[in-house]
Amino acid sequence: MGGHVILFPFMAQGHITPFIALAELLHRRWPELTITIINTPRNIQSIKSSFPDPIPTIRFRSLPFSPSDHGLPPNTESTAGLPFHKFLNLFIASESLRLQFTQLLHQIIIEDGDRLPSCIISDYFLAWTVDIAEKLNIFHSTLITSGGYGTAISFTLWLHMPKLPAIETQSLSLPDFPEINIHWSQLPRQLFVPDDNFVSKYSSFLQRQTLHCFKSNAILLNTVKEFENTGLSMLEKLITGVPLFSIGPLLRQPSPPSSLSLSLSSSSSCVEWLDKHSPGTVLYISFGSQNSINASQMMELAAGLEASEKAFIWVIRPPFGVDVTGEFKLDQWLPEGFQERMREKKQGLLVHAWAPQVEILAHESISFFLSHCGWNSVLESLSHGVPIIGWPLGAEQFYNSMFLEEVGVCVELGRGNREKMSGVKVERERAMEISGMIRGALMEVNIEGGLGSSLHGLDEFCNLVFSKLD
Ligand code: UDX
Repeated sequence: MGGHVILFPFMAQGHITPFIALAELLHRRWPELTITIINTPRNIQSIKSSFPDPIPTIRFRSLPFSPSDHGLPPNTESTAGLPFHKFLNLFIASESLRLQFTQLLHQIIIEDGDRLPSCIISDYFLAWTVDIAEKLNIFHSTLITSGGYGTAISFTLWLHMPKLPAIETQSLSLPDFPEINIHWSQLPRQLFVPDDNFVSKYSSFLQRQTLHCFKSNAILLNTVKEFENTGLSMLEKLITGVPLFSIGPLLRQPSPPSSLSLSLSSSSSCVEWLDKHSPGTVLYISFGSQNSINASQMMELAAGLEASEKAFIWVIRPPFGVDVTGEFKLDQWLPEGFQERMREKKQGLLVHAWAPQVEILAHESISFFLSHCGWNSVLESLSHGVPIIGWPLGAEQFYNSMFLEEVGVCVELGRGNREKMSGVKVERERAMEISGMIRGALMEVNIEGGLGSSLHGLDEFCNLVFSKLD
């Protein structure tokens, strides 16, 4: 099968990673397919470097982008290291790439001898590309990089924001899913910004992308059918007339390099440290590529870890709400002497800003993952059979954590459920079960001797795209 697919991820590590994995997956299954990945210059550089052995059918193209035109710090092309209140600037900036994207598309079409691409697969934050695809008569698909359950709840919130009940309301029954109640503290962080203009710009951006996404010819999901029955039915209730295909888990191995790499510990030093620990004894702590806990939570967590006397590896970055310019001095955010004591006792390894997460989760010494429940982290953890201690911070992470608790692979911290901690053994077994389910979805021959459900989903999607071209 020939054909040409354009991939356009949003500028955030948690979105770029699944797109790279999708490019690899498409190439694995259809080696003759040409794939063009489009992004801003710095992101394209780092995406390119994540293919150490170039694949001739995977091409890379940059869109001109000037961060300062959008009130962003120099060289900022992703959410990593960006203060929270500037996320909106990046969202709006990404939406303003319309002209550049159209021009680049025309250029690519001319270079390809006036042949249109078979399909554009854009991130759901870039779902506005649907209008451009429609004008050019190109098949358009949105890739939703998060899970079904979390996305369904986010969509219903975004579609109704900012007209939700006052946030002081303790509990909110969801507009399209009245059977689900969420606590006000589980609403997106953005709604708590004391600036109505910010809130309304933020929610209207997300509403626009959701509505655009509903106009796609197909929607791809970074999830696994067997794992996410509930979430998929919820999405089907919201999105009618657009076929949904589960094609996950879109995972990479090893971790991609990051522009955030202030890391003092290289990949091998983390693994060497873990090698000195017995199986199932080390807690891994990380809050993703863009989130942090606040300063007092950092102090509390450090004190709790020390008191537990359990081994841990903690990826640490400046606390939430603190803008750090210049060198990040870790000591001021931790109890006095904490780093030295952890080093002397060999209890904990503190990794600055960025760690080789996939290698860590794959290590047999890891017992649990204390995670913000970003969807990539969830899939990476569960695919290695590592159960999660949830500390959701924003976006759809609260709903991911709720779903994972229901599945029995997560205990959320701080919601009065300490007694559940005694059931952690069951979760480890359940996580191993889920691991088999998730990995099986991308196998040519799964445990039942058939094609994995996500490969089947991807085949169905490609057949749909190519049937439209006949
Ligand atoms: C964001 C949103 O916050 C999340 O809710 C949504 O589901 C996806 O987009 P992010 O917060 O970055 O993502 O979290 P996550 O989805 O977990 O993605 C982080 C990625 O960066 C993972 O692939 C993880 O392996 C990688 N990472 C993160 C590292 O390799 N090293 C690190 O130190 C931190």
